[in-house]
Amino acid sequence: MPILERLRADHADALLAFEQANRVYFARSIPDRGDAYFAEFAVRHQALLAEQDAGVCHFHVILNEEGELIGRINLVDVAQGSAELGYRIGESAAGRGLATAAVRQMCRLAGTTYGLVALAAKTTLDNRASRTVLDRNGFTTTGTLTLDGRPGVRYRRAGLGELGTPGEPGD
Ligand SMILES: CC(C)(COP(=O)(O)OP(=O)(O)OC[C@H]1O[C@@H](n2cnc3c(N)ncnc32)[C@H](O)[C@@H]1OP(=O)(O)O)[C@@H](O)C(=O)NCCC(=O)NCCS
Repeated sequence: MPILERLRADHADALLAFEQANRVYFARSIPDRGDAYFAEFAVRHQALLAEQDAGVCHFHVILNEEGELIGRINLVDVAQGSAELGYRIGESAAGRGLATAAVRQMCRLAGTTYGLVALAAKTTLDNRASRTVLDRNGFTTTGTLTLDGRPGVRYRRAGLGELGTPGEPGD
């Protein structure tokens, strides 16, 4: 069972190590973050925390049961009861259902702790793993788009306010 922790300043070192270790792996399915992301990581991390404090985003790291950082899952552009979902799981933890479980937890947190009623997501048409994760969590397709120059699909999940009981990241 993955553990979601709301992003903190002291996650910076583990998060940078995670992104560096998985840079080539992630670039196979999503755009590379670019050299500047890694060079300016500390400044960017502070900026994310400031955005989070302002309430427009909710960032989380995903830990395994040993406490290792194996992924991240975020809600951005929070507005009018909705937000955009994004996630990534590192190569060493892939294919074990962790993204599916993390998105399930995130939907519950979104509907309870964060008071949201709906989430949107988007992915490229050829990202079968990501589409499977969304399908298994009750997201339905709402349209198409071009994403990073490739055909993509928009998803949405509503009814989050009816999920579970209030909880904190780390449940
Ligand atoms: C997408 C991602 C989060 C999936 O993480 P994960 O923990 O491996 O996902 P899960 O194990 O929960 O489920 C993925 C499912 O898709 C399946 N899958 C994986 N690759 C697949 C492929 N190429 N074709 C079809 N199904 C595939 C897996 O087999 C699994 O199904 P299963 O449980 O029946 O075996 C991870 O691959 C990732 O971080 N990729 C890079 C970033 C990314 O694409 N993020 C999403 C952007 S919207």
